[in-house]
Amino acid sequence: MELSHQFSLQEYNSFNIKAVSPTIYFPRTVTDLEQLPKFVDNPFYILGDGSNTLFVDDHAPIIIKPDFKGISISETRDNYTVSVGAAENWHDLVCLCIEQGIYGLENLALIPGSVGAAPVQNIGAYGLELSHFCTQVKWFEFSSKAIKVLDNKDCQFSYRDSIFKQALHNKGIIIDVEFSFPKAWKANLSYAGLSDLGNNPSAKQVMDRVISLRQAKLPDPCKLPNAGSFFKNPIVNEQKLISLKNSYPKLPFYPQGKGLVKLAAGWLIEQAGLKGYREKGVGVHEHQALVLVNYASEQGEDIVTLAKYVQQQVLAKFDISISPEVRMITAKGEQNFVDLVVDLESK
Ligand code: EPU
Repeated sequence: MELSHQFSLQEYNSFNIKAVSPTIYFPRTVTDLEQLPKFVDNPFYILGDGSNTLFVDDHAPIIIKPDFKGISISETRDNYTVSVGAAENWHDLVCLCIEQGIYGLENLALIPGSVGAAPVQNIGAYGLELSHFCTQVKWFEFSSKAIKVLDNKDCQFSYRDSIFKQALHNKGIIIDVEFSFPKAWKANLSYAGLSDLGNNPSAKQVMDRVISLRQAKLPDPCKLPNAGSFFKNPIVNEQKLISLKNSYPKLPFYPQGKGLVKLAAGWLIEQAGLKGYREKGVGVHEHQALVLVNYASEQGEDIVTLAKYVQQQVLAKFDISISPEVRMITAKGEQNFVDLVVDLESK
């Protein structure tokens, strides 16, 4: 199996943070996975394309970067089934499907990242989540060295979450993701910015609109390093919504059922006066406040300090705690934001 020591990850994370891993493994086959050492005492992290990852320290843990490639397509009378290796690029997959006349993923165009990372946080945008079309995930379990097949229900998908972030965290590796697309396709225009596309837009038209919406608001990580939305949109109860609405009648909200509503963290951050805020070479993006950007820093700690400040300001103004969706990786492995902030403060 291909591996490398003292490996610089600067080009392997979209924040462009300087971090070095003692060893990085690139498993490409199941035999490679079987040969991975047991990381009993050594922390490790499974890295996709690094577009939702913040390396906090100069030292990263051991990295496993799956290199499973390949896309296979089959069809029945009513459906297409598309099976995709974890290392394939997400946006390339979306484009390939549209070119082949396989429709459904167009709302998820231009999301940076690999296919294998997509189920982990159940990527979603413009009225659609991956869970809608994902039928199964092939996952290699470290302890048994066996491949398990998880169906959609097994994956326990919810907003930016799945079993791979929870019970199966660091217990194995996604090697392949399967999707099923009904041939009877209908455009999903539920997101406000798509509703003016008319009654019958083509999938390509929907994709082009999604791309232009993203390009207008979200910074291109190749030009201005970032990891997309830094925070998750918070979910609150209706009581909290009513009290907020009294003070802020324009507050956007999205009912989730069961008396819960999702709020727009970007709106909260903007109202807290932080849109365009900058410090120490990092900042809050000037067009979409949910995105933290790296203008000139090489240190992940600068982003953590900014994120903590943003979180505190939103808490002080709205009494709502927003939490990061970006994964925080230290030399000790993945850490949750609360512990990380405590650690940094005690330094
Ligand atoms: N808003 C502001 N100011 C801002 C940003 C947003 O007032 O700086 C307001 C908007 O005007 C709108 C509301 O907040 O009323 C929601 O904004 P938007 O539709 O842009 O979406 P979002 O909730 O900020 C989410 C996803 C994005 C996804 C978009 C579009 C999360 C954490 N983020 O952002 O996903 O592209 O919806 O569907 O759920 C990502 O995960 O990296 C990502 C970019």
